[in-house]
Amino acid sequence: MPADEPQPTTDHGTTDSPTYPPSPEFAAAAAVGADVYDRAAADRLGFWAEQARTLEWETPFSTVLDDSEAPRYGWFTDGRLNASHNAVDRHVAAGHGDRVALLWEGEDGGSRRITYAELADDVARAANALTSLGVGTGDRVAIYLPMIPEAVVAMLACARIGAPHSVVFGGFSADALHSRILDAEATLVITADGGYRRGAASPLKPAVDDALAKGGTAVAHVLVVRRTGGEVAWTPERDVWWHDVVPQASAEHEPVWVEAEHPLFILYTSGTTGKPKGIFHSTGGYLTQTSFTHRAVFDLHPETDVYWCTADIGWITGHSYVVYGPLLNGATQVIYEGTPDTPHRGRWWEIVQKYGVTILYTAPTAIRTCMKWGEDVPGGFDLSSLRVLGSVGEPINPEAWTWYRRAIGGDRTPIVDTWWQTETGAIMISPLPGVTAAKPGSAQVPLPGVVAEVLDDAGAPIHDDRAGYLALTEPWPAMLRGIWGDPQRFADTYWSRFPGVYFAGDGARRDADGDIWLLGRVDDVMNVSGHRLSTAEIESALVSHPWVAEAAVVGASDETTGQAVVAFVILRDGEEVTDRPSGDDADEQVVAALRSHVGAAIGPIAKPRSILVVAELPKTRSGKIMRRLLRDVAEHRDVGDVTTLADSGVMGLIQQGMAKPA
Ligand code: WT7
Repeated sequence: MPADEPQPTTDHGTTDSPTYPPSPEFAAAAAVGADVYDRAAADRLGFWAEQARTLEWETPFSTVLDDSEAPRYGWFTDGRLNASHNAVDRHVAAGHGDRVALLWEGEDGGSRRITYAELADDVARAANALTSLGVGTGDRVAIYLPMIPEAVVAMLACARIGAPHSVVFGGFSADALHSRILDAEATLVITADGGYRRGAASPLKPAVDDALAKGGTAVAHVLVVRRTGGEVAWTPERDVWWHDVVPQASAEHEPVWVEAEHPLFILYTSGTTGKPKGIFHSTGGYLTQTSFTHRAVFDLHPETDVYWCTADIGWITGHSYVVYGPLLNGATQVIYEGTPDTPHRGRWWEIVQKYGVTILYTAPTAIRTCMKWGEDVPGGFDLSSLRVLGSVGEPINPEAWTWYRRAIGGDRTPIVDTWWQTETGAIMISPLPGVTAAKPGSAQVPLPGVVAEVLDDAGAPIHDDRAGYLALTEPWPAMLRGIWGDPQRFADTYWSRFPGVYFAGDGARRDADGDIWLLGRVDDVMNVSGHRLSTAEIESALVSHPWVAEAAVVGASDETTGQAVVAFVILRDGEEVTDRPSGDDADEQVVAALRSHVGAAIGPIAKPRSILVVAELPKTRSGKIMRRLLRDVAEHRDVGDVTTLADSGVMGLIQQGMAKPA
């Protein structure tokens, strides 16, 4: 395989792997039956229009797809609706106000139970409070919160007044928060004093203070939720306690009806350059597809199911499958604040038992971590309530899939391996649990209404099982509407590799049964624990340190996290570098300082697993860093053919360095 061809990243099963058809009872009671594929294939736009009509529209739409400005597609363009009305008020009006919406479990043992009627009041009050703080329709609001009910309330309150939210994961640093606030030109930040993580209160507000102190933002107010009760620095006039303005506000609020294409939110994700992309999503199309997929893929029966998605709201999974999808469908769901091993390694399974969770949606990295901890940990809890398991974020290796089904699913639950992206907004490729015979390791088939192909280098569809590029060849309702403030980058990144077709950035192949196997990213984007990280972004963080002259970052495969960040750096020489450690443990000190520098620039998740100080980097004669070689070194593979290297002696030196114990 040439260097830039898709490279497999998992131990793949084959077409002969065992398959797991749904039980006849499961299939008979399924929320969505097999006929849905034919219906959607016969009339794709009609199918999506039918899904859109499961929402409540203030002004019904007559246009389904507007492709006049492709690739800036529009869906249901002449309709008007409101996201929070659909997620909350509608269920209250339908008589389900007493149904529990959120079963919140704090890491410290606290818990809260919030019904749809209570959530409706909370959202209306928060919407009134936002308005009184000067937030208008179209203004952007940054949300930097732990996993507490106020995070859901804050997002819905923004949606209620048509103010796009930009949620920034609480694990991102002040620098990362600052650049996101700037890029979105947010005028308000919603945060908390802190949250609980790993058994201790972890502060959040200081990062907001630091971010705003960097200057240049349009932020007028910071709305602060009290969660931990820790000390916080206070800027009078600017800072406002949530408990001083939200509970006092009126619970009457007329939602702002927006056009279907009105932006619902911006969410930043890493790309191949150093600057994160502000992916933005619309209202009508996004809600249509998140609600349909949540119902169909998880076989949701809202009257009886207890659903739990373990994702943080800082990621797209938290947007689509903690906030919008489940609430649009009137589901009852668990939200957990903390880490899986606090105060013990059975915490998740204790929560499943406590609430009788029936549907669990999590990531392969979490499953592999639980595998390491041993099967007797979940074995100590009653998990018999579970009936559907989901996986997302990276390819799930068949071994982890099989363990998940046996140790967690009691050998009875279907597993849905769901492929999608921040950009797709909603699940695109996945089995349907009551229909598809599941095949461990394969995300299998495009959902009804979705068209995906595996393309070769020239853009021709591949019909045998060769590896190629995954492309989405027809528009879909929840597709991104653009990159905030950068239409050119939108066109270049997604629509130019294969003109007119959405290029996902993933390698894939289709087996003889027509099932799709994802092979990992084909660009310079890494996937660490299901989180997307950019090699360029970490490289630019490294070279922003005064000791570093040059840096190259690669994603090396890792047993638990899928990929891990490995960095190679060349240090600066010369007089201007005076404070660099010298002596025996100089290298270790340099590495420690650089790791925390990356943590401060981006966030702890971006800290390299290892950093190797080298004298040279392998480059082609045209000066391009040969990442493939560095990946080989990082994964302890033979580097093979290095004839295109400008200086082939370099690789020997780097390999010697890598062989040195860390
Ligand atoms: C990238 C998107 C979608 C929410 C979580 C990540 C990888 C995601 C799968 C899967 C194989 C997967 C892809 C994709 N990915 N789900 N089921 N099988 N790969 O969202 O941060 O936007 O990352 O995650 O590489 O392009 P994201």
